[in-house]
Amino acid sequence: MSRPGTSSCRFAAALDVLARRNGSEASGEDCRVGRIGAADGDAARGEQRDETGIMLRVPRGFVVTEVMPGSERLEALLDLADSVLAQARYIVSEIPTAFESHVLGAFDASECVGFLRYIVQVIGSDAGRPPVVHDAVPLTEGFVEAFGVAPGSRRRGIGSALQAGAQERCRALGCHQMRSRSPVTSIENYALKVDAGYVLHPSKENDSYYFLLKL
Ligand SMILES: CC(C)(COP(=O)(O)OP(=O)(O)OC[C@H]1O[C@@H](n2cnc3c(N)ncnc32)[C@H](O)[C@@H]1OP(=O)(O)O)[C@@H](O)C(=O)NCCC(=O)NCCS
Repeated sequence: MSRPGTSSCRFAAALDVLARRNGSEASGEDCRVGRIGAADGDAARGEQRDETGIMLRVPRGFVVTEVMPGSERLEALLDLADSVLAQARYIVSEIPTAFESHVLGAFDASECVGFLRYIVQVIGSDAGRPPVVHDAVPLTEGFVEAFGVAPGSRRRGIGSALQAGAQERCRALGCHQMRSRSPVTSIENYALKVDAGYVLHPSKENDSYYFLLKL
């Protein structure tokens, strides 16, 4: 695993894609993302196994996979993210505290029906706090930066599959927790998080709460 703070992931190709779409210059450079490969789990039971060996329960007919910078799938994912609470900007934003950044997409053939971006960072680094060291290692977290499912594909388990994918990857990296923040208007997301066992903590930024889950 990369050491915290040695490099920020700038998700360069994705920035280029967004910049081209917006007709502006991109400034991204180095990026470290891992590749999640084709599913090979027990499809009949709605299971998929990725290249890292993680088994995910995904609704039949859909694939959850990592989306790589510069790919056609990223274009489709950004289009969807644009249409769900204008989240494309959160897919490509630079996050200086992130030492890993990954974008997962849910697909029905080439159609993107869901997206989730998570980063890995040292807990507290985004708030300028010193690391919490446990067993000589700074505690890290997976932070979900963007999340959405196409309106026509909701309530089929796709959002949960994306969340589970991010959680299992972060667990494999040794993260202590998952965290995210969303506005109180995100009623479906609040329902999903509460039903999935997350605890809530009020944020001081606008009308929003943090959601936390111990891994
Ligand atoms: C939040 C969101 C991603 C959920 O995606 P999804 O694919 O519909 O989620 P799932 O099907 O996995 O739902 C899992 C569970 O969450 C809860 N849930 C999800 N949507 C719900 C709703 N509208 N009402 C009540 N419970 C809901 C249920 O417990 C559901 O399980 P069930 O269907 O077996 O009852 C989707 O509603 C969405 O894109 N919302 C708009 C964007 C958003 O709010 N993003 C997050 C904050 S920026």
